[in-house]
Amino acid sequence: MAGLIKRLTKYGNSLALVLDRPVLNLLGIDDDTPLEITTPDGKSPEFAREAILAFTRVRDLVVDPFTGGGTAVAEAISLGRRAAGIDISSLATFLTRVKTTPLSSRDVDMVLEWAKQLPPAANFNNIGCRALEPNDLSVRHLSRDAVIFFRGLLDQIRQIPNLRQQRFVRLILLATGQAALDCKMDAPTLENLLGDFHTTLRSAVSEFRAYWRDVAAAHAVPPSRLTQFRRIVNRCSSGSDVDKRIPREWLPARLIVTSPPYPGVHVLYHRWQISGRRETPAAFWITNQHDGAGESYYTFGPRQQPGLTRYFAQLRSTFTSIRGFLSARSLVVQLVGFSKPEWQLPVYLRTMKEAGFEELMPLCDRGALHQRRVWRPVPSRRWYACIDREVQSSREVLLLHRLAG
Ligand SMILES: C[S@@+](CC[C@H](N)C(=O)[O-])C[C@H]1O[C@@H](n2cnc3c(N)ncnc32)[C@H](O)[C@@H]1O
Repeated sequence: MAGLIKRLTKYGNSLALVLDRPVLNLLGIDDDTPLEITTPDGKSPEFAREAILAFTRVRDLVVDPFTGGGTAVAEAISLGRRAAGIDISSLATFLTRVKTTPLSSRDVDMVLEWAKQLPPAANFNNIGCRALEPNDLSVRHLSRDAVIFFRGLLDQIRQIPNLRQQRFVRLILLATGQAALDCKMDAPTLENLLGDFHTTLRSAVSEFRAYWRDVAAAHAVPPSRLTQFRRIVNRCSSGSDVDKRIPREWLPARLIVTSPPYPGVHVLYHRWQISGRRETPAAFWITNQHDGAGESYYTFGPRQQPGLTRYFAQLRSTFTSIRGFLSARSLVVQLVGFSKPEWQLPVYLRTMKEAGFEELMPLCDRGALHQRRVWRPVPSRRWYACIDREVQSSREVLLLHRLAG
């Protein structure tokens, strides 16, 4: 991996960051569009992984202050780094925590054994309809089959004795429901949902086993001790620098790798959108999390607000706190999308400056150096949130910052 390492260099009066050719290639930049980042498979994990490999060493702390689905935290610990993930959404921290909690062989056996004993779809009608309250908001807009499926499985999950195993199964249930319902027009049948659940469970178990083998090897400790290398905190990132749950002795963070909420962009972080634009809070119910807030709570404020003043105030406040994690040698790497980049990007950059950061402009090394920001189409990477057409057609920019001198 040594070939991927960037270098810092003098460029005019400023310090610039050179992304070497292998890094550009890994980010998917091809020779015909030298300054565009594209990811051929539309996934983002490689990006967080490459940033962590390029800019940190083993045992360094990596922080994602807007952790979402937890990709950066999961990648960091799989590479032998320490990781802290912060998110205001209890759904996001649930996901990150469960994805980064190892299961023992016994846990896996128990879960698979439990799944084998599940009743067939025909018998779910009885279990799933039990205690069905007609006005229950948790199941709003879900089809009858979907309600019976989720209710039936949530009822069965209670038979699993161990909380860690139960949470893992909730994660699989969430992934199954999201794949089958979120942003979909057609309502799947109960049989299909149950079949998808069994398939997702089997493949998740083998992926999980392989992942934890790698993590244990990277940290050279038994899997049961691996959670000591990560902290996941459910809170606003403003003020998180003084939160005692992130050990002081881990600081400073070497790298912040993140995607904050995007200015003016409609992304639902807390709802599934089904059969068109009908929203359901079912994800909170499935994961047993509290859903106490509306959309603007998760997006730095309402996206229709002229000038997005609340958005930029939140950005300033969170990044002012993020400073507290950093030293002069730390790097902040962000991917950010915009609904109207022509005015929002300059304001975004000004806000980062006000929060105490200096931008490092990437130099793309292709024989001759090009100094420009690099962009890529937004991949549809949020597996629990719906991204509408407005976002899919837009691009996100790679921003690099360090503390202002
Ligand atoms: C763009 S998403 C992060 C996506 C993530 N990088 C991924 O790949 O899944 C932004 C996240 O920021 C969280 N968020 C919004 N406001 C926040 C705040 N003030 N503090 C911490 N997290 C916040 C949202 O809940 C959401 O999960």
